[in-house]
Amino acid sequence: MTTHDIRRLYLDYFEKQGHAIVPSSSLLPENDPTTLFTGSGMQPMVPYLLGQKHPLGTRLTDSQKCFRSQDVEEVGDNRHTTFFEMLGNWSLGDYFKAEQIPWMYGFLTRELKLDPARLYFTCFRGLTEIGIPRDEESAELWRNLLQTDGVDAGIADFPERDGLQGARIFYYDEKKNWWSRAGVPGAMPIGEPGGPDTEMFWDFGAEGRRHENSAWRELPCHVNCDCGRFMEIGNNVFMQYQRTESGFSALPQKNVDFGGGLERLSAALSDEPDIFKIDLFAPARVKLEELTGQTYGAAAADTRAMRIILDHLRAAVFLIADGAAPGNKDQGYFVRRLLRRSIRYAQKIGRRQSFCPALGEAVIKTYAASYPQLAHEAGRILEELEQEEAKFRRTLDQGMRQFDVLVQGLKNGSSISADAAFDLYQSYGFPLEMTEELAAERSLAVDTKGFDLEMKRHQELSRQGSEHKFKGGLSDHSEMSVKYHTATHLLHATLKKVLGEHVEQRGSNITPERLRFDFSHPAKMTAEQISETEKLINAAISRDYPVSWQEMSVEEARAKQAIGLFAERYDGIVKVYTIGDSGEPAVADPGAPAYSREICGGPHVEHTGVLGHFRIVKEEACSAGIRRIKAVLE
Ligand code: ALA
Repeated sequence: MTTHDIRRLYLDYFEKQGHAIVPSSSLLPENDPTTLFTGSGMQPMVPYLLGQKHPLGTRLTDSQKCFRSQDVEEVGDNRHTTFFEMLGNWSLGDYFKAEQIPWMYGFLTRELKLDPARLYFTCFRGLTEIGIPRDEESAELWRNLLQTDGVDAGIADFPERDGLQGARIFYYDEKKNWWSRAGVPGAMPIGEPGGPDTEMFWDFGAEGRRHENSAWRELPCHVNCDCGRFMEIGNNVFMQYQRTESGFSALPQKNVDFGGGLERLSAALSDEPDIFKIDLFAPARVKLEELTGQTYGAAAADTRAMRIILDHLRAAVFLIADGAAPGNKDQGYFVRRLLRRSIRYAQKIGRRQSFCPALGEAVIKTYAASYPQLAHEAGRILEELEQEEAKFRRTLDQGMRQFDVLVQGLKNGSSISADAAFDLYQSYGFPLEMTEELAAERSLAVDTKGFDLEMKRHQELSRQGSEHKFKGGLSDHSEMSVKYHTATHLLHATLKKVLGEHVEQRGSNITPERLRFDFSHPAKMTAEQISETEKLINAAISRDYPVSWQEMSVEEARAKQAIGLFAERYDGIVKVYTIGDSGEPAVADPGAPAYSREICGGPHVEHTGVLGHFRIVKEEACSAGIRRIKAVLE
């Protein structure tokens, strides 16, 4: 059975249990400014877990692309990757433990035919401080299912010190058996949903001295000990609580969020503890072997470096496909980091010429049938890989020489200065994290605090430079330009209302003659949408709303649902402009006390009444998925 077959089998199985199959969302979350990447299957489901109706019903199943930037450093062992696919099944206030656990057991043991005698389970031990009880129901359900297969399953408590104790089902605390996007209950922000979970583990067997390199070698092995004997293959979250001001309350509905690592299930099925050996990595692995002359897994090979390269290239391909081109900011910065890190590791194992496009091509081929978008975008993806690699290669050798000069004479344990690290970043394109890694290989540290300060100082300078050039986005501060600036805020808020919340500003350019506004929207606007937009804006102008601003933290601005994310200062304070009553929630509706709220540096008019009559003169495509409006005030 190939990994693609496992995905298919899984989706079909849950479809038979009445689930609608939903396609994977993008790795770049839509309408969720709180996070850069989709890191779990749950991410796109949050509104539905909180009670919003999903158009496809209350039982859903999917295979969601995930990227966990926080795991970059973990990659290199036999099972961590930054990109992975998470198989999901969702009960949105529909079934609960008594249905889900037997289904999952059936999938593992009947469909995949995994040997029940090699499955282990964990459950939540309860947390009295927050009034959430021990999950005995799940433990009993697993025990009964195992017993029907003739597997005697003892239940034991919290085995970190005592090891397996001859049992098969274990209670762990909230560090292991509680799931929310923020982690343990205490770390959850108000409003965040979470709940106890029950996890499934595959036993690769105790033989083979897998414990040798484990931090646990002095302590008894247990399913969560990370020695490599056990691998978590699935996690059932019983998403039934929400963090409140004073503690936790029950969500209006009891949900199930199952997440299973597709690659890990495949590894368990082929009884191969190294997930880089499963079929999904094979074409890229073979290519990498060919390009480096090393045999993966052979004694002489640098297996860690090869795993890092395989993981990072795959992640970069999927991220670029979803719209994150390598760059200096946000998501693009991570893609840059992944690629530069791979290039450095390839250098280490003897590959000094281009390899990223060749590996990218192998990844695209592997996944094309399941993700046609990759084949569709192959040209663009390979071009990005090629350009980024070429750019970095131009300075890599010089940068490495510079690095060697810098560290000469530095004693073990001392630090590379902020200036030097910043120079490596600016002149040679070394991401800070890469300099840190290179330093650590020589038992050195980096003054990262100083680096951050240097970076801020530098950005401040270049911002001042660009403010000078553009005067806060305006080509001049003439009265007409200021009016167009306020009209742009009205337009932004109105487009979100008329076309939907997905609309985001992608560019703005103002002259005393007109405004130009680029925004994300997948289709041409209809004549009705254009006239509705004009009508709402002109009504807002007639109401002569006051325009005012306040300074606040980014979090506060988010809580007040301000749109736009520009010109944040280094102290995390932003200026927020409100059109209408600044104490009221902004609703782009001329009947509402406030119409628009947007993060912005200004300047703006004092009252909308002075704007005159607003008219859209053109609506056209700007680039894929981006529309452009030109409008005038008359
Ligand atoms: N949301 C759960 C996880 O990511 C299933 O592990």
